Amino acid sequence: MSGEALLRFAAVCQRYEDGSRGLEECSLSIRPGSRNALLGPNGAGKTTLLLHGVGLLRPARGQVEFQGRPLDYGRAGLRQLRQRVGLVFQNPERQLLSASVYEDISFGPLNLGLPEAQVRQRVEAALGAVGLADCRERAVHQLSFGQKKRVCIAGVLAMEPELLLLDEPLAGLDGPMRREFEALLEQLAGQGITILLSTHDVDFAYRWADDLHLLAEGRCLASFPARELPRQQALLAAAGQALPAVLGLHRRLADLGLLPDEPPRSLDALLAALDGAAPDLKRNPA
Ligand SMILES: Nc1ncnc2c1ncn2[C@@H]1O[C@H](COP(=O)(O)OP(=O)(O)OP(=O)(O)O)[C@@H](O)[C@H]1O
Ligand SMILES: [Mg+2]
Repeated sequence: MSGEALLRFAAVCQRYEDGSRGLEECSLSIRPGSRNALLGPNGAGKTTLLLHGVGLLRPARGQVEFQGRPLDYGRAGLRQLRQRVGLVFQNPERQLLSASVYEDISFGPLNLGLPEAQVRQRVEAALGAVGLADCRERAVHQLSFGQKKRVCIAGVLAMEPELLLLDEPLAGLDGPMRREFEALLEQLAGQGITILLSTHDVDFAYRWADDLHLLAEGRCLASFPARELPRQQALLAAAGQALPAVLGLHRRLADLGLLPDEPPRSLDALLAALDGAAPDLKRNPA
């Protein structure tokens, strides 16, 4: 991938204290302004990679670079990095600290030493972005799982990051909440925030991401544009991933001559193509 990366992992190797492999010569690049999905089986290293992205873990060999410069793991360096890169953990309990929603979201900006008026403005903007403005005074522990996830995202957004890292943001959400989250991700990407998330949902990754990164056993097997996924089935299988359902459906419909060969990215796009290609079929289903 061309151009300077916003975040780059260069042959990162790391083991956990008990000797477990975290990452093994893992290399990948995140382009500024792009939407990125990390795909890989349980234990592939997705969470580990995200922790490295914000300097919570440190490579034993290789390096992590932000805007072309190796991360500075000193106190001041990490503080600066975390104003620009925000991580939302998979489990909201790991992230939430304070009694009320407002307090929790204001924690980061207050820590930056911002004046109170600016803190308030940032918190209100973040609450609005995640649709929780009515919950600002509620106790965090009384919220639902999905609402807690939103508070976590708001807490990170209040830091106004350039790069947002999200560990399985859709896990544990019901259908309507997932659609709302997808809309929120759409909106954040639209504002120019670079996003890197991990997911086990290959259908979502295929329709949403610009770039896909396949992880297995601590390595990045491949990075490629999501639109190339139909031609990368062998790599996808190597990373333990199923083919997106829309591609199987498209293949059969294309074989029947009902759709052109170019595969759509989502079920909605497939249905729209089907409506366009076979209006008679739709009107007379019998
Ligand atoms: N705190 C830890 N101590 C020891 N080993 C760990 C620790 N955290 C993760 N690992 C190991 O590191 C490897 C990568 O784990 P990681 O959590 O990054 O995988 P993942 O791709 O996020 O998996 P999942 O899809 O299950 O979330 C695994 O072998 C795991 O057992
Ligand atoms: Mg994980």
